[in-house]
Amino acid sequence: LDKNLDAIQPIFWRENQLELLDQRALPQQEIWLKYNDSDAVATAITEMVVRGAPAIGVTAAYGVVLAARTAWQSAQQNWQQAMAEPLAKLADSRPTAVNLFWAIERMTALYKTLANDVSPENALLIEAKKIHDEDIAANHVMGHLGSELIDKNSVVLTHCNAGALATGGFGTALGVIRQGYADGNIQHVYADETRPWLQGARLTAWELQHDNIPVTLQAEGAAASLMATGQLDWVIVGADRITANGDVANKVGTYMLAILAKYHDVKMMVVAPTSTIDWQLEDGKDIPIEQRSEKEVTTIQGQQIAPEGVAASNPAFDVTPADLIDAIVTEAGVIVSPSLETMKKIKRKA
Ligand code: MRU
Repeated sequence: LDKNLDAIQPIFWRENQLELLDQRALPQQEIWLKYNDSDAVATAITEMVVRGAPAIGVTAAYGVVLAARTAWQSAQQNWQQAMAEPLAKLADSRPTAVNLFWAIERMTALYKTLANDVSPENALLIEAKKIHDEDIAANHVMGHLGSELIDKNSVVLTHCNAGALATGGFGTALGVIRQGYADGNIQHVYADETRPWLQGARLTAWELQHDNIPVTLQAEGAAASLMATGQLDWVIVGADRITANGDVANKVGTYMLAILAKYHDVKMMVVAPTSTIDWQLEDGKDIPIEQRSEKEVTTIQGQQIAPEGVAASNPAFDVTPADLIDAIVTEAGVIVSPSLETMKKIKRKA
């Protein structure tokens, strides 16, 4: 077993710039892209160079640092006013993962306290690094909390990629899986390939193989028959936004798994840091669901698959109602049977 379960990291601040591992090219190629400009960071988020809710938040925090550098260079003591446009562009990059807005708000709260006549870059960089480090630390806490819920030698299924690549490092759902495997609680992992972006096939399979964790890839349509065999114990997924009542937006297909899990008596675990909780929304029907290009469904990696001109629907996320979820694992604690009432236990700590 590779002991370094923290080896994979998708985001670095190096030599005064942001470096992102291009997740569109994985696992065939490991390409690092460099960013000096916050608008380019916003485009990288939209185009899925970096993806996964916590990773989007960490990236946006560094994007704010780059926006501040440019604002200071171009506007000097008026730098705060010059932040409005680039930050609006960052906020516009993807709509569903609330970590994006959470990170921009946290960076904004800090920059509003800074002086007009000093470059804001250093102070903001310290805060962005803090957001990054806190995310990795939260994943380790959740890894232990989630692993404790799982009986010895369990078999689990995950969807999309909620791994090191989707976070600052270590992962949310894959953090629990990494820790659960190290603890002997998990013996085997099924990974849904996750159409249309294939995050499961390209990213989750790559991460688990890297860490020598036994993984079997399957088309997501195979989940029901897998559950019918009685071999599966848990579905473990991440989240893009959790509302005050415990409803969960996550990669499209998660809701389908939750219904299947209920029918087959398989347990459902959602793993997400408190930065993924949107306390302002009471329930999941208010979560904005990103609709992406039809091309992502009618083509596979640029190659046309469907007949030219056919209509396609491409919602990137769906909402799983709280009552289909057995446990939400956060760094502030575990919510068993999430509801408006039980979620309050975490609200006090978050
Ligand atoms: O479209 P993506 O790849 O950004 O979607 C990612 C997911 O749905 C993840 O499950 C979620 O962000 C949690 S990542 C720890």
